[in-house]
Amino acid sequence: MMKIKVNENFAALKESYLFSEIGKRVRAYKEAHPEKKVIRLGIGDVTLPLAPVVVSAMEKAVKEMGVKETFRGYPPEYGHDFLREAISAYYKRKGVKVAAGDVFVSDGAKSDVGNIVDILGKNTVLIPSPVYPVYMDSNVMSGNKIELLEESEADGFLGSPCVLDGETYVIYICSPNNPTGATYDRAGLKEWVDYALESGSLIIFDSAYEAFIHGDYPHSIYEIEGAEKCAIEICSFSKTAGFTGTRCAWTVVPETLETESGFSLKKLWARRQATKFNGVSYPVQRGAEAALSEEGVKECAALVDYYMENARLISEALSEKGVWHTGGVCSPYIWLKCPNGLSGWEFFDLLLEKVQIVGTPGEGFGDAGSGYFRLTAFGSREDTMEAVNRLKTIL
Ligand code: MLT
Repeated sequence: MMKIKVNENFAALKESYLFSEIGKRVRAYKEAHPEKKVIRLGIGDVTLPLAPVVVSAMEKAVKEMGVKETFRGYPPEYGHDFLREAISAYYKRKGVKVAAGDVFVSDGAKSDVGNIVDILGKNTVLIPSPVYPVYMDSNVMSGNKIELLEESEADGFLGSPCVLDGETYVIYICSPNNPTGATYDRAGLKEWVDYALESGSLIIFDSAYEAFIHGDYPHSIYEIEGAEKCAIEICSFSKTAGFTGTRCAWTVVPETLETESGFSLKKLWARRQATKFNGVSYPVQRGAEAALSEEGVKECAALVDYYMENARLISEALSEKGVWHTGGVCSPYIWLKCPNGLSGWEFFDLLLEKVQIVGTPGEGFGDAGSGYFRLTAFGSREDTMEAVNRLKTIL
């Protein structure tokens, strides 16, 4: 037997990560019922291929890698300048000032959300509920003190700092929210920035779904004055440009983020990334750069529109059946209340057993998600239409 010590905080986690648990249950069902066609509307994984402009840029980059004169070894640890500049320009087109030097390219928003705890000490962490489970799990792994900001239908699933007492927190905000789709307007986000500035808190703002926003809502926390002094922003090409399998994202850590004790968060993150991360491959970064070009943005918007039509179809069917739901307007997720008082996991089992549809139980996003359920609009149109027909038979 080994005598080493392990990180015992892991004992406080649920046995498996939400989407691994769902995958396990679906595999078991398929093994038992190989003749049934299961439609997956669980994990938010895209189904449309990469935009043509992205593919061409990647092909060209791969060819460069096969020629001695243009071959490249390790990528720069914080991302190629061409991509950092393209991200900065993407913000600029939205009227937001983000310096290219404050942008750190990575292989995914999930990695950055999970890794950011490395540079933070023992703070109290404020996590909305329901929300993307990685915020919670990564802080549990670090043994951090966690407070939940419970959200509900009553507040439109948008928590407000008015319930807080001025304590300093590391505050997680996901807007548009995964799973509810709730999106802060400028006034709502300003309340959080003002709170953070007054209380000396840090906001970790997850904007992975900003490309799905329809309407006048902020796409970046840096649209709010003062955010550059209290917020880190994490964004991704996964959902916007279909990069779930290609892997590329970025995190903005402004130069202006400094602690009372004289630490620069940007320096800490730079040091962390240089030590533990070796960058994103050149062809992928060229593809990401192309996704942010004028043509790329247009092509990617067409992907988003396709998924939003799926969301509309799901929402229409739920309305027809009188099922309470929200989302699908600024996000690719529909958040619904399970019928007949079922729990999310009970509804999960029912849908899988009776109509072979996989969704995500609300409980997986925190206790405040109990009794709710998430369906993703990222399926193919055919699958979504089939799912809608099947859903109507049991609702
Ligand atoms: C989700 O389904 O919530 C997301 O796809 C998970 C992720 O982005 O890691």
